[in-house]
Amino acid sequence: MSELKAVILCAGEGTRLRPLTFSRPKHLLPVAGKPLLGRALDTIREADIRQVALVVGHQAEAVQAYVGGGAAWDIEATYILQEQPLGLANAVNCAKEFVGESPFIVFLGDNLLEAGIGDFADDFCQNQAAAALVLREVEDPRRYGVAELSDDGTVERVVEKPEEPKSNLAIVGVYAFESCIFDAIASIQPSARGEYEITDAIQWLVENGHRVSSTILQGFWEDAGEPVALLRANRLYLDRLVSTIEGTVNTASQVSGAVHVGLGSRVNNSRITGPCFIGDNCVLQDATIGPYVSLGDGCQVRNSTIEDAIIQSGSRIENLPGGLKRSVLGEQVVVAGDARNNAPLHLLLGDMAQIRVI
Ligand code: G1P
Repeated sequence: MSELKAVILCAGEGTRLRPLTFSRPKHLLPVAGKPLLGRALDTIREADIRQVALVVGHQAEAVQAYVGGGAAWDIEATYILQEQPLGLANAVNCAKEFVGESPFIVFLGDNLLEAGIGDFADDFCQNQAAAALVLREVEDPRRYGVAELSDDGTVERVVEKPEEPKSNLAIVGVYAFESCIFDAIASIQPSARGEYEITDAIQWLVENGHRVSSTILQGFWEDAGEPVALLRANRLYLDRLVSTIEGTVNTASQVSGAVHVGLGSRVNNSRITGPCFIGDNCVLQDATIGPYVSLGDGCQVRNSTIEDAIIQSGSRIENLPGGLKRSVLGEQVVVAGDARNNAPLHLLLGDMAQIRVI
């Protein structure tokens, strides 16, 4: 059998994450100090897949600048442009030539899976189905593709975002396909939202006598498509953080729980309650940080409290004793208070925003 390949879809505009995605593709937004796409590539590599195509569109250059040739993951990265946002099936179809006759994994670049995909990929290579889905029980399946199964786990029907779901099994954004999926894609019509849905292509396989198998996912799954989900993903990864103090923490500071302090960072007269990720070259002065805070490189926090937040590189927070909570900030943001304000702020700010609280 030919070698398993992977196609990562990272062309989407990330409209639900605006304004963060005006200046950066959503796949490059960091959770616990690492971009979503970096985590997706870790997952692909852990499954021993080396030939990886990235289907890019919105801000393609930024994706290409981050992944390059793929050496950081020991993969061979190929870039394929999806010219128009015509849906996931159209994005997969862009990779037809790259895939050739190989079986392949499709991975939605904003999906985060704790359990990895190694076992899923191995099972698919052995069990000779035309496609395999990863499923997860969810409380409200209406915002996902939904699968109905027979007793042995074979997929009998899939529907994209049904109003009245017949099961609570959501389709996770990881699929395995044989190349017959391209016949399916060629046969479907756009959905009501004007997109070629991968779910409809899978339904075509089922209706045309192809076997589609399924696996129920263990561990966490996050589709980090909106700010609350990004913060949730940040917390999930921070919960798995191992302490590493590479910078300096002065004796007047207190650090508890799992905390990473990056190279060149200085923590003075501050309290950090883990889990927290502090990038390189940050300055914390008279700050109270955590739990669940990720700071990008070069951030400065003075006389402020931050909890449950993602603050991207080069941002500065000062004189906010009331604090910042449940917030996502872009790069080089400045939030400055006047030290008297005690109400916590909840902010979603794009790059270079400047806020003065009086
Ligand atoms: C897409 C798929 C959907 C799947 C979901 C998983 O939806 O169309 O079937 O359940 O990803 O993340 P989207 O998030 O693009 O609306």
